[in-house]
Amino acid sequence: MNAESRTRLNQTPEWNALGKHREALGEVRLRELFDADPERASRYRLTAGDLYLDYSKHLVTDETLDLLRQLARATGVEKLRDAMFRGERINTTEDRAVLHTALRAPRDAVIEVDGENVVPAVHAVLDKMAAFAEQVRSGAWTGHTGKRIKNVVNIGIGGSDLGPAMAHEVLRPYTDRSLTVRFVSNVDGADLHEAVHDLDAAETLFIIASKTFTTIETITNATSARSWLLDALGAGQEAVAKHFVALSTNAEKVADFGIDTANMFEFWDWVGGRYSYDSAIGLSLMIAIGPDRFREMLDGFHQIDEHFRTAPIEENAPFLLGLLGIWYGNFHDAQSHAVLPYSHYLSKFTAYLQQLDMESNGKSVDREGRPVEWQTGPVVWGTPGTNGQHAYYQLIHQGTKLIPADFIGFARPVDELEPQLADQHDLLMANFFAQTQALAFGKTPEEVRAEGVADDAVPHKTFRGNHPTTTVLAPALSPSVLGQLIALYEHKVFVQGAVWDIDSFDQWGVELGKVLAKRVEPALTEGAEVPGLDASTKTLVAKYRELRGR
Ligand code: F6P
Repeated sequence: MNAESRTRLNQTPEWNALGKHREALGEVRLRELFDADPERASRYRLTAGDLYLDYSKHLVTDETLDLLRQLARATGVEKLRDAMFRGERINTTEDRAVLHTALRAPRDAVIEVDGENVVPAVHAVLDKMAAFAEQVRSGAWTGHTGKRIKNVVNIGIGGSDLGPAMAHEVLRPYTDRSLTVRFVSNVDGADLHEAVHDLDAAETLFIIASKTFTTIETITNATSARSWLLDALGAGQEAVAKHFVALSTNAEKVADFGIDTANMFEFWDWVGGRYSYDSAIGLSLMIAIGPDRFREMLDGFHQIDEHFRTAPIEENAPFLLGLLGIWYGNFHDAQSHAVLPYSHYLSKFTAYLQQLDMESNGKSVDREGRPVEWQTGPVVWGTPGTNGQHAYYQLIHQGTKLIPADFIGFARPVDELEPQLADQHDLLMANFFAQTQALAFGKTPEEVRAEGVADDAVPHKTFRGNHPTTTVLAPALSPSVLGQLIALYEHKVFVQGAVWDIDSFDQWGVELGKVLAKRVEPALTEGAEVPGLDASTKTLVAKYRELRGR
């Protein structure tokens, strides 16, 4: 590991070899790379579980890939990976193990943290979740007035919201459509209002999802939800037990809030928030899709965990994606990375990846606290195609920025689409394939001219091409494939963090804003003098109070 060797990343021979290689390579042309190697498309592909990855449309040669793999070996990515799987405390700044992989380990696996096998506890919680989910789905769990639960509202933020909200959207075709499942995260009261204004409180279950159970947005919304429910039912505190459950690591705070800890579903400090939706945090999803589908999803995660753990670097998908990102971010100065799913159900996928990637790798000191001298995590963005094509793809095709992109598509549409709508899938996928072709190979001025375009219009209609993409193709969007995709990105982020020698599992960067918000609030409400408020913020607060009529 870097921390042991103390060699800074940019001092390693492997890093320098990549820099030299980049210089020597100059501007490679994808057209030329394909012309020079008729086997390129069949050589630059790999399979991980049900995921088929084509990486032939990247600005790389065999030598580039070889040098990148040497960098991964030299920076100890495999050693750190093995330490993670073994349950070692690789989250050094929080002194915690990083074991989201244990959440999807089979029942008979043995994974120890401090000498204790955590797998039985993981499955005990999954079983408890399954029993509860079945009770809600069957109608056996009723509200305070005896009515069946028809609405489930998850209240959480960050990792306690984005994962279940995204997965619920992705797996909609697998959900019980008679249930209304909503997600509230924003402390803006409008979020809770919109989620509950048309619901019957007697039929509504709130799931309060918070690892720490101290997050102000979540506790504020949970408190308001409790008032809304008790007011609507005209009931006292005794109604809470039938309408509120908690997902947390903090039993004491759950009890303080007034939720019976018998209705708490536990997880552990070795599960990072952004790696937690396959833990108890997925309860709302499990209620929606049922325990069997949830387990299928966990099996999908596990398949890619095993792939990441055992496949040689040359055939290892998370290594490949991670290293390609390093090639562009560190050796081509790319600042962002687009994830462009060709499925309407993946509309929240990129938002989920933003937290996974940007909260993990948005760091600027190494594991020893020294400022890094190299770029770390990219800006991750994107929305489902083909909508993006009619919005921002222009910039990817003809703008001045290098934006590596992942295109994610599926061979089959979801089963429940009626035939005419299912037929539209080929058109969707035609766009999927056409875009990566256009991005890679563009259209030369000669080709444009040959179409009879007037000379002065040629530059405008020319496509430079050479925009790198990875194509990820899966048979269909199933719970298992979703698990596989998420695990693929989790481990990609891991590989990058390991190479960059940063702690991908803490998130100290969100703390300052939280502390200041607490300090600023009395200035807004009471006009209190807040020590240390800068002149700009002070003026803004005064204007706010004036506009607010205070
Ligand atoms: O944004 C910081 C953060 O700690 C995230 O990492 C986490 O997912 C989110 O807040 C919510 O935290 P909690 O689940 O403890 O409410």
